[in-house]
Amino acid sequence: MVLLKKVDWVVQGDKMRLVFLGPPGAGKGTQAELLLKNFDYNHISTGEVLRQEIKNDTDLGEEVKDYVNRGDLVPDEIVTKIIKKWLKSLKNNNGIVLDGFPRNLNQAESLEKDFEIDHVLYFDLKEDEIIERLSNRLYCPNCEKFYNLKYNPPENDKICDKCGKKLIRRKDDTPEAIKKRLKVYNKNTHHLVEHYEKRNKLIHIDASKDIKEVFKQVVERINLEKNKI
Ligand code: AP5
Repeated sequence: MVLLKKVDWVVQGDKMRLVFLGPPGAGKGTQAELLLKNFDYNHISTGEVLRQEIKNDTDLGEEVKDYVNRGDLVPDEIVTKIIKKWLKSLKNNNGIVLDGFPRNLNQAESLEKDFEIDHVLYFDLKEDEIIERLSNRLYCPNCEKFYNLKYNPPENDKICDKCGKKLIRRKDDTPEAIKKRLKVYNKNTHHLVEHYEKRNKLIHIDASKDIKEVFKQVVERINLEKNKI
């Protein structure tokens, strides 16, 4: 992960409520991590919460593990409950990033009932680049840090820079599961681009640039919107 020393750009929109939308592997998690490391954003990744539950062998983990591992969406009521509980638990007034939620119209409408988001950052990336990124992704099962063998490699071969554990592949980063996730995205999630475009909330991010360049776009676009207020 590229860590910007003291960022070259400053987020002025410190209270923005954002959704990160985009196909699997477009870099939503990478950019969310940068945003919260460099600025005080609250962040939740539904995928990460579900993977933790699976790792900890909880009842919820047992319930969702087959969906997650094969690349299907987990039932709406489960993820919606997780998000609403998290939103209620927030103790500060800082910005919010919802990473990976909503993922279909039903989830979006359920969120809209009691929470208004300001903008949706849509990370746009072509399918061949998605497959390339996901096929080279590894992560640390101990500290959950993500790497990419091609674009963002660890310093030592397949070893986590942060904690020294051996890096592994996510169970849903197999060729079959990637194919399934892309299918699910195209069938269920991509409609949300139009949904948020109609509501004037969509911000288009060209996710094909390198990590730092994408982050620059993210910060610039957030600032641009903030300055319109
Ligand atoms: P989730 O974990 O959210 O998976 P995803 O949406 O498929 O997204 P990824 O985490 O794969 O990709 P990303 O966009 O975060 O990319 P990343 O930054 O890692 O969800 C997993 C599962 O949980 C779902 O399939 C579903 O089962 C369930 N789930 C989650 N939310 C749900 C919901 N709302 N409803 C129902 N079910 C839900 O980057 C990818 C790779 O590329 C990394 O290796 C990274 O280092 C590299 N990279 C990143 N940016 C760049 C760049 N600019 N240039 C080069 N390489 C880059």
